[in-house]
Amino acid sequence: MASRRGFLTGLALAPVAFAVGCGLPEPTGIPGGGSRPLPIPPLAPSTVGDDGVRRFTLRAHSATTEILRGKHTPTWGYNGSVLGPTLRARVGEQVGFTITNDTPEPTSVHWHGMHVPAEFDGGPHQMIAPGAQWAPHWTIRQQAATLWYHPHPHGATEKHVYRGLAGFFLIDDESADTLDLPKDYGVDDIPLVIQDRRFAANGTLDESDPTDIGLLGDTIVTNGIAGAHLDLSTERVRLRILNGSSGRLYNLALADGRTFDLIATDGGLLTEPVALQQIQLSPGERVELVLTMRPGEKLALRSLPITERAGIDRATEFGFDDTFDILELRAARALRRSAALPAALVPIRPLTAVSTEPTRTFDLQWFMINGRRMDMNRIDMTIPVDTTEVWSVRNNDNWPHNFHVHDVQFQILAINGTPPPPALAGWKDTVYTGSGSTYTLAMRFTEYTDPTYPYMYHCHLLHHEDQGMMGQFLMLAPGQQPAPMPMMAGHETS
Ligand code: C2O
Ligand code: CU
Ligand code: CU
Repeated sequence: MASRRGFLTGLALAPVAFAVGCGLPEPTGIPGGGSRPLPIPPLAPSTVGDDGVRRFTLRAHSATTEILRGKHTPTWGYNGSVLGPTLRARVGEQVGFTITNDTPEPTSVHWHGMHVPAEFDGGPHQMIAPGAQWAPHWTIRQQAATLWYHPHPHGATEKHVYRGLAGFFLIDDESADTLDLPKDYGVDDIPLVIQDRRFAANGTLDESDPTDIGLLGDTIVTNGIAGAHLDLSTERVRLRILNGSSGRLYNLALADGRTFDLIATDGGLLTEPVALQQIQLSPGERVELVLTMRPGEKLALRSLPITERAGIDRATEFGFDDTFDILELRAARALRRSAALPAALVPIRPLTAVSTEPTRTFDLQWFMINGRRMDMNRIDMTIPVDTTEVWSVRNNDNWPHNFHVHDVQFQILAINGTPPPPALAGWKDTVYTGSGSTYTLAMRFTEYTDPTYPYMYHCHLLHHEDQGMMGQFLMLAPGQQPAPMPMMAGHETS
């Protein structure tokens, strides 16, 4: 392991001025000038049976994909050759899945951001052996949001996601429906997963030698391909953006520096649109942005160097200095008019805990949380159901980390003791943790008690997660005792 500095203190998150045109390196262009239309993941077909359950079928398998034009790269996908269909369901609906693993390795399917029973969470305790099936089901009980699904096999998550396994899971509800937001899927409401890849000369994905931040690619891939553009026919467009990369952070901006509106973060809509010129996205995080286009223009969505870097050692090696054009937006000569953005979106009730003193503290350092690496057979903590907890998470390191909690959406109460900026004031399930900084999070644990199956919390830089920067908690009913976990030999089949 690289030599480490001691922990860093007192690093404030200074706002950094927008820096386009101030001597930045030229961005790496879009491969092929963005000549390929952006693929839109298809909406997954589903059927609702007499039991009222909306059923979906997913099959993880290996295939080949033309990620680079003219090269057939071996990839993994759900149903298609890479990524997966967009799952969509409404609040209050029961959903059920039949998931088949036709890849050569044991994998799992985790519902990132979902309030879901622990036994169906799809973490490392719900492995699906090659050839086997898994059939999770639950009722959607959370607000409209852009969630995603991906594999979570302990020690191999990075490679499974990198090979192509990831998809969107959109939740709809009444309040989101009533708002006049762009919502025509694939037309003015666009799912966009941003990932980085590195290719060997023969076109295969290069999985070799992760850096301390994991696999870091030199080619940006959008919705599964390199070199994409997006044709737009409306004045306003909503981009639902997922950072589906292993370790790369993006600092998203429009190439001409124009302002856009942030309307939603991981767990749903904000209270009101937030006008921004750039927004940082660490692995696993989502944002929904609304942009305004001018007729006939071409505009690149760009990633600028990462500004939130104080205390990070070897920032260049972690890709913090890179500038990429990510996607070319091409507006039609005549654009259909879009409604003005609503001034108010949805109310967010602040979570109030019994005490603002942290219930628990988490120190992130090296590949450890509180000095320990993940042990599948160790429960790190138990949480009583129907409690609101305050977690204090500190990046005690000179590496970038982030922090993700399963089952819940949290609110950031403070960053280094100061209330979060508006962009971080909504529902989150994953938060970037700057070096030396402390994040105070509030979250409420409800409903799905289980003495056997734990939920995870971890760094979502996938190499760090695979290295064991993860822990497990049980949510328990009053008086309930943890039950022994089945050892990991038994894979589930149906
Ligand atoms: Cu997106 Cu535990 O993961
Ligand atoms: Cu998750
Ligand atoms: Cu990390």
